[in-house]
Amino acid sequence: MTLRTGRHFLQIPGPTNVPDRVLRAMAAPTIDHRGPEFAELTKRLLGALKPVFGTAGPVVVYPASGTGAWEAALVNTLSPGDRVLSFETGHFAVLWREMARGLGLDADTDALPGDWRHGADPEALAERLAADTDHRIKAVCVVHNETSTGVTSRIPELRAAIDAVGHPALLFVDTISSLGSIDYRHDEWGVDVTVAGSQKGLMLPPGLSFNAVSDKALAASRTARLPASFWRWQPVIDANAKGAFPYTPATNLLYGLDEALRMLEEEGLENVFARHARHAAATRAAVRGWGLEVLCADEREHSGSLTAVLMPEGHDADKLRKVILERFDMSLGSGLGRLAGRVFRIGHLGNFNDLTLAGTLAGVQMGLELSGMPVQRRGLEAALDVLR
Ligand SMILES: Cc1ncc(COP(=O)(O)O)c(C=O)c1O
Repeated sequence: MTLRTGRHFLQIPGPTNVPDRVLRAMAAPTIDHRGPEFAELTKRLLGALKPVFGTAGPVVVYPASGTGAWEAALVNTLSPGDRVLSFETGHFAVLWREMARGLGLDADTDALPGDWRHGADPEALAERLAADTDHRIKAVCVVHNETSTGVTSRIPELRAAIDAVGHPALLFVDTISSLGSIDYRHDEWGVDVTVAGSQKGLMLPPGLSFNAVSDKALAASRTARLPASFWRWQPVIDANAKGAFPYTPATNLLYGLDEALRMLEEEGLENVFARHARHAAATRAAVRGWGLEVLCADEREHSGSLTAVLMPEGHDADKLRKVILERFDMSLGSGLGRLAGRVFRIGHLGNFNDLTLAGTLAGVQMGLELSGMPVQRRGLEAALDVLR
């Protein structure tokens, strides 16, 4: 048995470290989910969630992982055979597309290819939508921050591309690893359904997910014909108006959400985004200082919440991660899908500060050296220069 002292460094890009305040808030007796105290909690929570999504509209909360909220976005709004446009930005975009196919949507005709180093391309979107003159494409799915690659797509530019050709498709955006970490504005950016999860920027354990819903998406939900029951928005929205849910909610996770939202409000969202951007910049400085390459290939698309690092030829990222876990008790993200073994991912999101980052990067630097990787030692120092 390996003896562990101090805290484990959980530096995967989610689930993230849960703040002590949030853990304490969840360690409270479960209450009657049909009683007055719970109704008050629900109403407070639903109000406090809106600014985080940047919306004045409804936010539907599910006791489910993010995958459930992906499904909810699709089944509430679409009908069998509807065409769904997607971009192959990485592993999660591919999984969402596969889900759409599995639900009986046409997810293949408009699957735009990608190299997993760039975000969704606004020009390719405009071109494809302009060619769809009879408006057969019903929805555009974008992963805002690709957790598998550390690339953040430019949602306002994608929205502008849709508007430029006057196409009526709904815009669905997955913010599972960006909400509460990277600037995001559901209403202002004209998003129809925003998909989010609890376990990353919201600093909660996994188990809650969300759909922020526009008026247009709500209208589409009245005629959508994909089979759905649990995921239907309207019964949740109706029950929420009375401070309730149409099923037994995840009461203690909601206590945690209440506290996490308070923390984000205290810090101020602008400061939260700036903190993440600064830690991301320091991490990139470290990667370059080691003489390694950041996977994201476009300066405009660097992720604020994680950095994916390419391994030099002939070196296995999983071996490096194993050394770091065994020697320094730190978990880093693995390469997913076609990036397996080729990248490791440093999560720098959620409950995080300068010294957590310095410790994380020190662990990576020592791990690189112990693994005999051909790296330079300037990485950590370069990051500290940014933090100073
Ligand atoms: C961008 C993105 N989308 C979707 C998912 C799937 O969410 P979950 O694993 O919570 O079901 C993840 C999970 O990490 C993700 O990062």
